[in-house]
Amino acid sequence: KEPRLVLGIETSCDDTGAAILDENGKILGEALHSQKDVHLKTGGIIPVVAQKLHADHIDSVVNEALSASGLTPQALSAVATTVMPGLALSLGVGLSYSLKMVKQYSKPFIPIHHMEAHALTVRLLHQVEFPFLVLLVSGGHCILAVAKNVADFLVLGQSLDEAPGESLDKVARRLSLINNPDCSAMSGGQAIEHMAQFGNKELCNFRIPMSHHRDCNFSFSGLRNHINYVIQQKESEEGIQQGQILSCAADIAAASQHTVARQLAKRTQRAILFCKEKGLLPAANATLVVSGGVASNGYIRRILKNVSYSMDVSLLCPPPKLCTDNGVMIAWNGIERLRAGVGILYNAEEVRYEPR
Ligand code: KG4
Ligand code: ZN
Repeated sequence: KEPRLVLGIETSCDDTGAAILDENGKILGEALHSQKDVHLKTGGIIPVVAQKLHADHIDSVVNEALSASGLTPQALSAVATTVMPGLALSLGVGLSYSLKMVKQYSKPFIPIHHMEAHALTVRLLHQVEFPFLVLLVSGGHCILAVAKNVADFLVLGQSLDEAPGESLDKVARRLSLINNPDCSAMSGGQAIEHMAQFGNKELCNFRIPMSHHRDCNFSFSGLRNHINYVIQQKESEEGIQQGQILSCAADIAAASQHTVARQLAKRTQRAILFCKEKGLLPAANATLVVSGGVASNGYIRRILKNVSYSMDVSLLCPPPKLCTDNGVMIAWNGIERLRAGVGILYNAEEVRYEPR
């Protein structure tokens, strides 16, 4: 019997992604269009701009993935598309494109939760059995959860304000790293990681937020305000205008990255202890998965590696390319759901779906 094939479509934020995977996890074709450059210039994502760029590129991205696979839409077993969470206007583009396609070719439709897709990507590359602990860190989210199966996640904690990627993006913007030619075309988080290599994290001492809270939630906005305050002070000390690059920018980048990493480590450590106590993870060989855009940060990975080692848990992270948004993770989640027989909408004509 021929393996089943799923087309995955991602448009939840600022990446238009498509990929075709077979049910063994083989990537047959993939394509990605990033809007990063445009949003870097405007200093953040403007939803109508993101929507227009998705609408302009979705057809060519899907066709590029299909032609790389040598397949026609008729050969697909299903179309899987991100329907939440994300920017409603962006999600709407992928959703209406997919619904048109499943109706035209009479294919089943699989609605995908973007964060679940980030969480399960690791199973495309490694044999990770359920349940496992997962830390999802991106520009929009910070979640600690136990993945119990393909469609069942127990959330242990999340950010009470902004996400770590969002904070790092804002700090990078405040430090004007975009004006540093070495950081051109980098996301804020990447620019912070790049600059941090040349800085001394000890030169600024930022407090780890919420360290006295006895739960697994996160907070990043207070830290960001503190960082902004320090930047302002340094600017007046150095007598420079906002927009020029501080001589200690690398130190602030290093200290910011370190403080974000320390908070992620502390909360994750707490979650591991909680899971062990409650028997939520296997007693031996438990796994911690870290995914989402911020998980591509090498320093954060190293700190989390130390935590997992000290807690006797193995750490797995997808490669950076699969940590940031892409079509492959959506197609893979579609395959997981197809295999498990959950969440598949068979009657394309009747599919009605609102992006959330
Ligand atoms: O998962 P993702 O591509 O999109 C969302 O779902 O948000 O994550 C994007 C976020 C951005 O905030 C970006 O600055 C951050 O991930 N990011 C990084 C790195 N690469 C991307 N943060 C820290 N270090 C990196 N190397
Ligand atoms: Zn994402």
